[in-house]
Amino acid sequence: MNAVYLSGSGNTKHIVTLLLDELGGNGIAVPIESEDAMKALEGDEIILAYPTMFSNIPYLVRDFINTHEAFWKGKKIFLITTMGLFSGDGTGCAARLLKKYGAEITGGLQIVMPDSIGDCKALKKSKEQNKAIIEKADKRVAEAAKQMREGSYPKEGLSFAAHLAGLFGQRLWFYNKTTGYTDKVKIDPSKCIGCGICAKNCPTQNIRIGDGKAVASSKCTMCYRCIDHCPKQAMTLLGKTLHE
Ligand SMILES: Cc1cc2nc3c(=O)[nH]c(=O)nc-3n(C[C@H](O)[C@H](O)[C@H](O)COP(=O)(O)O)c2cc1C
Repeated sequence: MNAVYLSGSGNTKHIVTLLLDELGGNGIAVPIESEDAMKALEGDEIILAYPTMFSNIPYLVRDFINTHEAFWKGKKIFLITTMGLFSGDGTGCAARLLKKYGAEITGGLQIVMPDSIGDCKALKKSKEQNKAIIEKADKRVAEAAKQMREGSYPKEGLSFAAHLAGLFGQRLWFYNKTTGYTDKVKIDPSKCIGCGICAKNCPTQNIRIGDGKAVASSKCTMCYRCIDHCPKQAMTLLGKTLHE
């Protein structure tokens, strides 16, 4: 079983890689923005994984599903979402869309990981706290893999109750945040050194270097990879200032 994933700060990549490892197969994990993502879809059974954003699917993932709508018919898809705290039906959001295109959803896994919003102090946790979160997540992945090897896939986020929790717990109030790409990445030119790390890492090629400084355009999927990688803490999106 291969996996296609979006991962901004690396949480989802970590979970997917670990699950494939625990499943003991020879499946590969491919980033959704990679040219090889479509090749990974060739098998009948695949994993699609992404971070929860406002209890919803990141727009890049929605865009990917819609762009390749003909590919999903008859596919067996296991969905994984990682989250900082709460997603309700983080997997269910993609499940409903994929089912519309004829896919069969084999199960869902929703795993709490450290929060990737690195420019909001209220969400900051200590290194020890994050380490404990990752240890717990790793254990949950090992348990899920055991279940899956025994042929009983977890169904997290796929129930009607989960749908209501995701909808009323968060999605309704933040719906406008995930209906498209955003142009809200802010770059402080006095801090930016034009190193290009953000541009190189952006999954949507939304950032370029012009006149020695990073310049963001309007196709940001809010993955936070640029912000988390910036060596000068010159970028922000939802918060005001970056912290270590
Ligand atoms: C724009 C944005 C919105 C987010 N919304 C939620 C949310 O609604 N619920 C939640 O529990 N975590 C939320 N998170 C946290 C991420 O889902 C979580 O940290 C995830 O593990 C990041 O995975 P990644 O490193 O693979 O991108 C959000 C993160 C970002 C960047």
